Amino acid sequence: MPHTLRGMKKIAVLTSGGDSPGMNAAIRAVTKLGASKGVQVFGALEGYDGLMDGHFRELTKVLADGQVAVDVEVDAAGNQGGTLIGSARSARFRELKGREQATQQLRQRGLEGLIVIGGNGSLTGAHFLAVESGLPIIGIPGSIDNDIGCTATALGVDTALNTIVHACDSISDTARAHRRAFVVEVMGRDCGYLAMASAVAVAADAVLIREEGKSEVQLVEAIATVIRTGYARGKRRILVIKSEGVQVPCTTLVRATEELMRPELPAVEIRATVLGHVVRGGNPSYQDRAVAGRLGFAAVSALLRGGTDAMVAWLPPVSGGTVTEDSSVQLFGLERVLEETRSLIDGTSPVTRRRLALMEKASGVLAL
Ligand code: F6P
Repeated sequence: MPHTLRGMKKIAVLTSGGDSPGMNAAIRAVTKLGASKGVQVFGALEGYDGLMDGHFRELTKVLADGQVAVDVEVDAAGNQGGTLIGSARSARFRELKGREQATQQLRQRGLEGLIVIGGNGSLTGAHFLAVESGLPIIGIPGSIDNDIGCTATALGVDTALNTIVHACDSISDTARAHRRAFVVEVMGRDCGYLAMASAVAVAADAVLIREEGKSEVQLVEAIATVIRTGYARGKRRILVIKSEGVQVPCTTLVRATEELMRPELPAVEIRATVLGHVVRGGNPSYQDRAVAGRLGFAAVSALLRGGTDAMVAWLPPVSGGTVTEDSSVQLFGLERVLEETRSLIDGTSPVTRRRLALMEKASGVLAL
């Protein structure tokens, strides 16, 4: 990345795809750093749709003396979940025509750079736009699923895990009171990370993830096994965490397991809880705010230094990317990020294999 400071005066930021706690904190950081450098920051509303349609909101304001200040609402929203500039999954932006429209809007308004906060689909869009438009674009990983390559975490992952842990604690209380088993579904369409990480944190008896490729019969058998052994050991709570990526609905699994176990445990009671979008909302945790702040700062710095078609990643200090002034933030080209994301999802990534191997080892212990 060339280390020449660009004299940018106006940049844009957008949030796209599923929202995640920490997006507002990243917008706040981007706006604050922009303002500190005399750069006006504009939010494109409803993700790429607003970019194409020219719907923007200024997140800064220019004071009488020419200084750039941060909008007070942006400042306050930084501590809240969701995204104050809205988000969407845009079908139109997947087409070249839509991206050309977005380029035109950016150029017409004198917006010299763009920061995209989002997950896999959003960063794919950012990569295409950067290559086709030649405009400087930097991505910030934001997705509760933790399925983005080259980064240890993404905005929202920590908060989502805290929400799941909190919910499972509540479920465990009532489960123990009635000596029941629960199958709890957590979000994660393509990636079982939330299920795996939370299962360890709440000491669930089993975790069911798409990556293991189990059939319905095998899933039911896995639930029945932990109920059987758990009750034999005197447990009062059996908790199974199922990732959304496992296509069989929770209620189907629960009904089939009850039927299977009826002859041996006639009184067995299993309940299903789908946490759904509860997991995606809520005020960001300390970690998500801190990561958002540091990634937001790094993203603006990268833009102003002429960086483009890259993502700021949260990583422990040593790892092979281009080091920034923040020891935990590194820059990776979007092409590499997207390639690693693909392999995380299709299971060929060493990271996914390591996660699975670890879960396999843990599964015998979790059920104890
Ligand atoms: O943002 C990722 C995610 O939360 C997935 O885990 C989930 O499958 C999906 O979004 C749900 O999307 P929507 O809110 O559009 O139904």
